[in-house]
Amino acid sequence: MSVILGVGASVPRRVVTNDELATRLDTSDEWIRSRTGIGARRWVELGTSTSDLAADAGARALRSAGRSAVDAVIVATTTPDRTCPAIAPAVAARLGLVGVPAHDVAAVCTGFLYGLANAVGLIASGAARTVLLVAAEAFSTILDPDDRGTAVIFGDGAGAVVVGEGEDGIGPCVLGSDGTGADLIQVPAGERYFRMSGKEVFRAAVERMADVSLDALARAGLDLADVDHLAPHQANRRICDAVARRLGLAGSKVLADLEAVGNTAAASIPVLLADAAAHGRLKAGDRVLTAAFGGGLTWGATTLVWPDVTADFGVLGEDR
Ligand code: UT7
Repeated sequence: MSVILGVGASVPRRVVTNDELATRLDTSDEWIRSRTGIGARRWVELGTSTSDLAADAGARALRSAGRSAVDAVIVATTTPDRTCPAIAPAVAARLGLVGVPAHDVAAVCTGFLYGLANAVGLIASGAARTVLLVAAEAFSTILDPDDRGTAVIFGDGAGAVVVGEGEDGIGPCVLGSDGTGADLIQVPAGERYFRMSGKEVFRAAVERMADVSLDALARAGLDLADVDHLAPHQANRRICDAVARRLGLAGSKVLADLEAVGNTAAASIPVLLADAAAHGRLKAGDRVLTAAFGGGLTWGATTLVWPDVTADFGVLGEDR
C-alpha cells in the first residue's frame, strides 16, 4: 500500500474577484456566487507558467515530507507550458531531480486521481519507493475572456503530494472514462480556447462522482459511515452538494475551498486537501473520500487516511 508523506500547494498572487469579471462580462457577483459558489479565483500574470506553479507546489510538498529526493515525478495538467515536451522533466529538474523518470498525465479535472493511481502503481510494482505527484494548472491561459460560461469558473493553482510505501493510507483508486463525451469539454483542434457544455457536464459530473465514490468505498471495504470528509473536485458548489446528497453524506462533511480559488481543474483536489490540512479542518487519522470528474470524459475516486504531516500552502513568490 501507499501513503501520503507530504503535501503542498501554490497559488498565484493575483486575485480576480467576481466584481472584476462583471466589469467586462455580462455577469454579476450574485449570479456567480449563487450558481457556482465561487467568490474569487487566482490567475497567473503574464510570464507565469504552469511549470512555475508546479515547481513551487512540488518544493512545498517535498519540504512537508522532509525530503529532497524522490524516485519519480508525475505532473497532471491540462495546460502544459508547451504541447511538446511534457513539463514533468522540467519540473523535476527545477527541483534538483535530474535523472529520475518524469511524465505528464492528461485527464483534465480527474488528472490528480489518474496521477495518484500512476504513483501508487509505480510503488506497488517496485519501480519506485517514493513519487512526487504534482497537479498544476494555468487554466486562465486557455479561457476565452468573452465566454461567461467558463471565464467565471476556472482558476489557476497547483497542489502536490509525496507518495511513499506504507500501510493504511491510500485505498484502491477507481478510474473510468467515456470518450463518446469527448466534445463536452475540449479545446477544439487548431483553436486556442477551452469550450464546455456546462449543463450536460453538470449532470454527468453528479452521477459519475457519486457512483465512482461508492465503487471506491466498496473496493476499500468501507461504508459511508466510515467517511469523515468528502473532498470532491471543486467543479461547482452545487455539483459538490448534489454528490453529497446522493451519497447521503451530511453537508458538514464536505470540504470546500472554491469560494476563494474557483475550479482549478486537475489541481483542485490537492489544493483543497492542502488548504483543509493547513487550516486544521483535516486532521491526522481522518478518513477522506475524494472524487473527480472531468474532460475525456474521465472520472475517479479513492479513499485516504490523512497522514500526520504539516501541509505547506502558499502563494507563488512569497514565503518559501
Ligand atoms: O471541472 C469539471 C468540469 N466542469 C464542471 O463540472 C462545470 C459544470 N457546469 C457548471 O458548473 C454549470 O453548468 C455552469 C456554472 C457552467 C452554468 O450554470 P447553469 O446553472 O448550468 O447555467 P446554464 O448553463 O443553464 O445557464 C442558465 C442561464 C443562461 O441564460 P438563458 O439562456 O437562461 O438566458 C446562461 O446564458 O445563465 C446564463 N449564464 C450566465 N449568466 C450570468 C451562463 N453563465 C453566466 C454567467 N453570468 N457567468
